[in-house]
Amino acid sequence: MEMPVFSLRLQWWFFLVNLVICIRSLKLESLSSTPTFGNETDKLALLVFKNHLADVPNGVLSSWNDSLHFCQWQGVTCSRRHQRVTVLRLEGQSLAGSLPPIGNLTFLRELVLSNNNLQGSIPTDIGLLRRLQHLNLSTNSLQGEIPVELTNCSNLITVDLTRNNLTGQIPFPFGHMSKLLILRLGRNSLTGIIPFTLGNLSSLQHLSMAFNHLEGGIPHDLGRLKSLKILYLGVNNLSGMIPSSLYNLSSAIELVFTANRLSGNFMSSMRFSLPQLLRFAIAQNQFIGIIPDILSNISGLELLDVGENYLTGQVPGGLGVFKDLYWLCLESNKLGRGMSGDLNSLNSFTNTSSLRFMSLDRNNFGGVLPNSIFNLSLQSLTLGDNRISGNIPGDIGNLINLTTFGVAQNDFTGVIPTSIGKLQNLRQLELSWNRLSGLLPSSLGNLSQLYYLNMSHNNLEGNIPASLRNCQNMEILILDNNKLSGSVPANLIGQLNQLRSLYLQQNLLTGSFPAEVGELKNLNELLVSDNKLSGEIPMELGNCLVLEYLDMARNSFLGNIPLSFGFLRGIRFLDLSRNNLSGTIPKELEHLSALLSLNLSYNYLEGEVPSGGVFKNVSGISITGNKKLCGGIRQLQLPACSDIESGKNGKGKHLSIKIIIAISITAVSCLALIVASVLLYGRKKTSIKSSSTPLGYGHLRVTYQELLKATGEFSSSNLIGMGSFGSVYKGILSQDKTPVAVKVLNLQQRGAAKSFVAECMVLRKIQHRNLLSIITSCSSVDHKGSEFKALVFEYMPNGSLDNWLHHESRSLSFRERLDIAIDLAYALDYLHHQCQTPIVHGDLKPSNVLLDADMVAHVGDFGLAKFLPDAN
Ligand SMILES: *[C@@H]1O[C@H](CO)[C@@H](O)[C@H](O)[C@H]1NC(C)=O
Ligand SMILES: *[C@@H]1O[C@H](CO)[C@@H](O)[C@H](O)[C@H]1NC(C)=O
Ligand SMILES: *[C@@H]1O[C@H](CO)[C@@H](O)[C@H](O)[C@H]1NC(C)=O
Ligand SMILES: *[C@@H]1O[C@H](CO)[C@@H](O)[C@H](O)[C@H]1NC(C)=O
Ligand SMILES: *[C@@H]1O[C@H](CO)[C@@H](O)[C@H](O)[C@H]1NC(C)=O
Ligand SMILES: *[C@@H]1O[C@H](CO)[C@@H](O)[C@H](O)[C@H]1NC(C)=O
Ligand SMILES: *[C@@H]1O[C@H](CO)[C@@H](O)[C@H](O)[C@H]1NC(C)=O
Ligand SMILES: *[C@@H]1O[C@H](CO)[C@@H](O)[C@H](O)[C@H]1NC(C)=O
Ligand SMILES: *[C@@H]1O[C@H](CO)[C@@H](O)[C@H](O)[C@H]1NC(C)=O
Ligand SMILES: *[C@@H]1O[C@H](CO)[C@@H](O)[C@H](O)[C@H]1NC(C)=O
Repeated sequence: MEMPVFSLRLQWWFFLVNLVICIRSLKLESLSSTPTFGNETDKLALLVFKNHLADVPNGVLSSWNDSLHFCQWQGVTCSRRHQRVTVLRLEGQSLAGSLPPIGNLTFLRELVLSNNNLQGSIPTDIGLLRRLQHLNLSTNSLQGEIPVELTNCSNLITVDLTRNNLTGQIPFPFGHMSKLLILRLGRNSLTGIIPFTLGNLSSLQHLSMAFNHLEGGIPHDLGRLKSLKILYLGVNNLSGMIPSSLYNLSSAIELVFTANRLSGNFMSSMRFSLPQLLRFAIAQNQFIGIIPDILSNISGLELLDVGENYLTGQVPGGLGVFKDLYWLCLESNKLGRGMSGDLNSLNSFTNTSSLRFMSLDRNNFGGVLPNSIFNLSLQSLTLGDNRISGNIPGDIGNLINLTTFGVAQNDFTGVIPTSIGKLQNLRQLELSWNRLSGLLPSSLGNLSQLYYLNMSHNNLEGNIPASLRNCQNMEILILDNNKLSGSVPANLIGQLNQLRSLYLQQNLLTGSFPAEVGELKNLNELLVSDNKLSGEIPMELGNCLVLEYLDMARNSFLGNIPLSFGFLRGIRFLDLSRNNLSGTIPKELEHLSALLSLNLSYNYLEGEVPSGGVFKNVSGISITGNKKLCGGIRQLQLPACSDIESGKNGKGKHLSIKIIIAISITAVSCLALIVASVLLYGRKKTSIKSSSTPLGYGHLRVTYQELLKATGEFSSSNLIGMGSFGSVYKGILSQDKTPVAVKVLNLQQRGAAKSFVAECMVLRKIQHRNLLSIITSCSSVDHKGSEFKALVFEYMPNGSLDNWLHHESRSLSFRERLDIAIDLAYALDYLHHQCQTPIVHGDLKPSNVLLDADMVAHVGDFGLAKFLPDAN
């Protein structure tokens, strides 16, 4: 199993990429005496520009027309005196196409076309724009080389070509642009070396060339950039040492060399002169040597990332003086000696109150965790893959802002402290591959933010605490390879509805696996092999439609392989081997096109082996150790099925179950799955509520006036529902005082009258405790003399199932859902089989299932119902 890694680096690059550069306001140069073209030429050049590029309909270019003077076109600014274009700024305008020649706009000082879809190369006549100071073509798809002519634009102050597809080398004459303050060439495909001439750009403050394919060494001349504040060279193919001159960049704030092939002894004899330095990153290189305990004339260091090198020695205690240190990544080096005391230098981290992220993963640290660590204000502390021993101290509870705590692959012993439940912000907890013992603290249930919990490969015992159900954000729960016992708590499984991976294999778990697993709509991996689980495999697993990996091998499951596995369209790996499963192999499995590996060996399966899908490939399946199988492809060398009796009887049963399952697409019928299972196993609901309907249909007569009064003149406050054919009001009939529901047909609606008749016809014939009982009907005229038809039903205080499923704040418990499903099954059974003439409801959906005060379900709305005289 691949170990998850909390990479600070990714977070760090994200941070880096989002850094904002501050550009100083700049003094403009006075104009020189280059030959000028008239303002007519500028207009012509703009029109050529417009004709070359496409933008979205009604985009900015469509406003470049003669209804306005060109100096007023959007994005264009002219000089007042000469009416010449000085600024062309069209950022993020969806401009597409390649740039036309632009050299005629000789007064241009600022050209900003960033964030468009420009293609092709940068026009070479850009070199004619002698007044150009700011060029920003970032975030386009420009190709080709950076034109050497650009270096003739000697007034350039900022050049930003970030995020294009530029290739070739950085032109050497870039060193001539002596006014450059900002040069950003990152995220292209530039090759070749970094020109040493850049060392001549004495004003340069920001130099970014990260994310290219630059090779060779870092030129020593860069050490002459006395104004340089930011240097990004990360993610290239640079080699050699960092020239010692760079440690003399007295203005430097941020130096990033991450992910190159740089080597050498890290700062061996170097004397640092970087008083301004805030961020320093050399991760993912090949540096050797120790991290010097110096850095002392740097005072404000915030970030130090030296991960993934070959550094040796210890964590320098000297880092403890940096009160602004925020991020410290030392992971994946050779630090520590694997002995006690290795982490003692952390005791001198007394001033580092700003430290939030500390990664010491994958080193050679031994000894115990120093207590001082628990006085910091850390948000992320990872120490995985070292040789740290001792207990996880109860003081861990002090680190209340911790979001990530990882100590996998160490030598920790003892119990997991209860105080871990105080870490309310914890999102990732990784304790796997240690020697922790004892119980899982139920205080883990307090960690409501937790989405990743891994405690695999320890000696943990006892039950899985049901309190974990409160970790509503849990996506990955890994508890395998421990000694956990007891059953898998049903009320845990049903609640963690974000769960994607559940690893429980290699424990001592008993009992049946909870059917509530069917509620886990995101479940992708379920591993419960090598336990002592028994009972049937829950058919509800068929509801976990995104399941790809299911391993239930080496338990004591019995019964059939659920037919519902036919719904697991994404399943790739299915292992049910070494259980006590019986019955036939469902033919549905051959339709699972993603299935690569199916292991059903060592069970009591019988009958025909299918021959389609995964069964076509003899290396994809294992069925050995089942004595009564027959058929299948020839390579399996099983006896032909004609020799064996079984296998054919199952057909009819398959079909009816299939139909029941097929209905499960609608919300109500999802429950039919459960209904089916309940009916199949003959469970019966015993509590029968005494019916509260004293009056049979037709016994009570009501008039329009009475209904008007009963419902407060059909006031909107009594409106409890709207259907296709009418509205439903709550009311109190004066004769009875019991609340009723009055369904008033909207006779303007086509089909409403017909539906009224249908409903009356049906309701006259039927009576069942799970059907909505009718009290009476009313066919009359209203006060305007229009026809009026209404039906009066028993009032259902708990409203519709639809409301419970989608709108109620409290969700239905499993028990309630089951009861409702059973009620519905009784109702349908009654309609389909118990009535003289079978009736199809025709519109069964959650909004037509109503719940009375005791949450007993009643099917209502028979407006679309039909008699099926021939169905018997
Ligand atoms: C060009 O400038 C001249 C004088 O400054 C002005 O008369 C003329 O209208 C301008 N032409 C355009 C197209 O703006
Ligand atoms: C640039 O100006 C010259 C002279 O006015 C003209 O011939 C040429 O077509 C112009 N080019 C563009 C792209 O505007
Ligand atoms: C010309 O531009 C103006 C805005 O400058 C715009 O309102 C008008 O619709 C445009 N006319 C055409 C024909 O695109
Ligand atoms: C260039 O434009 C992009 C996007 O419009 C902006 O984020 C970036 O800061 C600009 N570059 C400079 C150097 O101003
Ligand atoms: C740069 O400008 C000089 C004159 O100032 C000219 O001779 C040379 O051809 C130009 N080079 C490029 C590449 O445009
Ligand atoms: C960049 O250019 C290369 C070669 O011209 C091409 O293969 C690649 O698809 C381009 N990438 C983008 C993002 O345009
Ligand atoms: C860099 O500047 C030095 C003087 O400071 C000069 O001699 C040299 O020619 C310049 N090099 C380039 C490539 O501009
Ligand atoms: C990096 O450079 C070396 C030679 O210096 C070359 O062998 C290697 O392929 C390059 N790697 C990449 C990713 O360009
Ligand atoms: C660093 O700068 C000092 C003075 O500014 C100079 O004496 C020293 O040689 C420089 N060191 C390097 C390695 O460039
Ligand atoms: C937790 O964070 C809060 C808010 O940033 C801060 O006030 C508090 O001191 C921190 N406490 C600890 C123990 O880190």
